[in-house]
Amino acid sequence: MDRYALIGHPVAHSKSPAIHAAFAAQTGQAMTYARILAPLDGFADTVRAFINEGGRGMNVTVPFKLEAFALADHLSPRARAAGAVNTLSFRADGIHGDNTDGVGVVRDLVVNLGCPLAGRRVLLLGAGGAARGALQPLIEAGPSALHIANRTAAKAVELAEQFHAMAGAVPLTAGGFDEIGTAAFDVIINATSASLSAAAPAIPDTVYAPGALAYDMMYGSAPTAFLVAASAAGASRSADGLGMLVEQAAESFLIWRGVRPDTTAVLASLRTALAGG
Ligand code: ATR
Repeated sequence: MDRYALIGHPVAHSKSPAIHAAFAAQTGQAMTYARILAPLDGFADTVRAFINEGGRGMNVTVPFKLEAFALADHLSPRARAAGAVNTLSFRADGIHGDNTDGVGVVRDLVVNLGCPLAGRRVLLLGAGGAARGALQPLIEAGPSALHIANRTAAKAVELAEQFHAMAGAVPLTAGGFDEIGTAAFDVIINATSASLSAAAPAIPDTVYAPGALAYDMMYGSAPTAFLVAASAAGASRSADGLGMLVEQAAESFLIWRGVRPDTTAVLASLRTALAGG
């Protein structure tokens, strides 16, 4: 059996083992996927021990994505752009690092939610790791405008400057929440960690264009504070990040096993479980 694992701190409540077990069953892959709790000061040692035991790959979660980036011998272009690694593959020529978080959110929006990004106005809230990880795939999706807004304006501006060359023909702008003014957007993505503290980013109600979709990278059994605020402010549709979780897992599975699992049934059963069904 080929061995895979999620490494993080904490990892106890992660849904990744169940997701990968479902993918493996569906695609007939002989593999196991475990949870590994690494000590906060023991990430690299824990990875190396797993490699020595024959491990083939790992997903990396909080707080180790930057350490995984540093540990990798080879980085994919999207891992480089994200500045973080959530997928490690252990191969004969060393440790390969990739990042599937950004492609996960874009696939969830475009494929699962039927919300095209090409030619649409996209507002990305936040300028931390989650926002950075989404930028390259968002740019590649070809929006008509991409604006990064962050509570701390300078961080948004710095992030936009770093992606300026990659953006090419996609207008990429940035600023603070208070600089959004009356600009309206078709897709509003919350990549801040505000929902962790049950807070909603302080953005104007006017950001929601007619038909707009509000998307939170976070999820829970109840709508996040951002999604509640978005609906109250007039967003036509809202979605949480459960689909992103499943899509980033599917992309990791594809990297490791060379086959893309069908995410529909897995997402539906996770949604039912999350709702307490
Ligand atoms: P992550 O890896 O989840 O992106 P991070 O790198 O620490 O975490 O970034 C957290 C992001 O959430 C930042 O953009 C932060 O805004 P600041 O740069 O102004 O700190 C944002 N954030 C956290 N709590 C927030 C809140 N209550 N309202 C708005 N933005 C918040």
